[in-house]
Amino acid sequence: MSLPVLSSEVLAELRTSAIRVLQDNDLGDATRPSPTLYPHQWLWDSCFIAIGLRCVDPERACREILSLLRGQWPNGMIPHVIFSGSGSYHAGPDRWRSDLVNTAPGQVQTTGVTQPPMIAEAVVRIGEVLDPARRRDFYHAVYPGLVRYHCWLYRERDPDDTGLVTLVHSWESGMDNTPTWMELTRRAAPIPLKLIRRLNGDSALDALRRDNKEVPADQRLSATDLFTLYHLVGELRDARYDFRRIRASRVPLVQDVAFNAILARANDHLRDISTEIGEKLPDQLLRSARRTRAAFATLFADGMYWSRDARSGKLIRRPTIAGFLALYAGVVPPASVEDLVTRMTAQRFWPTHGIASTPTDDPDFQPRCYWQGPVWVNMNWLLADGLDRAGRGELAELLRTDTISMIAGSEGLYEYYSPFDGAGVGSNHFSWTAALLLDLLDGRRPTHHMPSARKVLDGEHLSRRGG
Ligand code: SER
Repeated sequence: MSLPVLSSEVLAELRTSAIRVLQDNDLGDATRPSPTLYPHQWLWDSCFIAIGLRCVDPERACREILSLLRGQWPNGMIPHVIFSGSGSYHAGPDRWRSDLVNTAPGQVQTTGVTQPPMIAEAVVRIGEVLDPARRRDFYHAVYPGLVRYHCWLYRERDPDDTGLVTLVHSWESGMDNTPTWMELTRRAAPIPLKLIRRLNGDSALDALRRDNKEVPADQRLSATDLFTLYHLVGELRDARYDFRRIRASRVPLVQDVAFNAILARANDHLRDISTEIGEKLPDQLLRSARRTRAAFATLFADGMYWSRDARSGKLIRRPTIAGFLALYAGVVPPASVEDLVTRMTAQRFWPTHGIASTPTDDPDFQPRCYWQGPVWVNMNWLLADGLDRAGRGELAELLRTDTISMIAGSEGLYEYYSPFDGAGVGSNHFSWTAALLLDLLDGRRPTHHMPSARKVLDGEHLSRRGG
């Protein structure tokens, strides 16, 4: 295993490239995730982007968040994509027809689903670098929209008061082709797509897709999976994005563990924001937030946290990175933390570079394919934070160092990376990788000798972890 040497010059160059990526992807008050594949504004991308922007331009970071609220629906939903760029996108406005639901004048075109609720986290991180008066102004500006969004999540997506919000499409999870979601999604595929899949006909369909023109098809989800996701968008559109009608359809429904973990943490941040500006959160929201934390116990089995099939009530026992976000949420009982950390740092999730989105021994594992194996910088950022919260600061630092060294090993700033050799894959010039790299570098002095993470993990002083 190589021992990367990162001089202060290399770190400075990385910083410069990261700033350049954010400038090149700047749409004015929003940032596209990448130049061609993702030419509009995405919800959780913009939150991670704002966390990086605060390191170089806090006011621009504030505008990134405010521009997300421009897309908020009258019912409170913040959509996963706001069509604010000019490039063409494979799942563009015509597929969603948000105008059929949002008839208010001046409503921007958006998708009809949401994405992990990272906004409160981004708001608080930006708040950390603002002076107190400016911070309160910013909090006042975003607070009503944030409260309406969190209330929508519970009112619309948890009508039975379980404490866990239900997602209606894997694009809401942000982990499009993670095995957890694909297990259910493939069952909901229309019969022709099921047949094509059985006959290994994906490559024939590849010619009909647009998303594989920038990124090789084998680094994206399969054609049959993609066309099934398009089909499900059609079902959601027919149900006018109304959860009661969606429940009556055949669309897969999932109480997604990662989404709910991010929501649990976001609720805490929202409470801190409200306290700082002297506002009182609705009692109903406070009750729901408490239920969310408690409900994590129902997602825990055999040492892992799982998503639940909201239709059958069964846990979907496919191990992926998603369950580890319970650490980020701070919902893991102290007695279970060590075991969960041990599982996360094991070779199958952290072979050379961690944390793999799907473990290397999973039948669907592919080191270069989207959420079926690659390492994602936003996940590492969240999990490092989770490790800090769990009292494992030394592992958090190791994960951050590993992330920087992995990024430095590729020419360019990529969407995701192979957990084996750190090769950059997916879209290049990717905004959240750039933004979170800025944030990681900000907390770091120049390091001349960065040992490989695996060697450190295997070393004596961290031997508390198992295999
Ligand atoms: N990640 C999805 C895409 O490929 C949508 O969010 O476009």
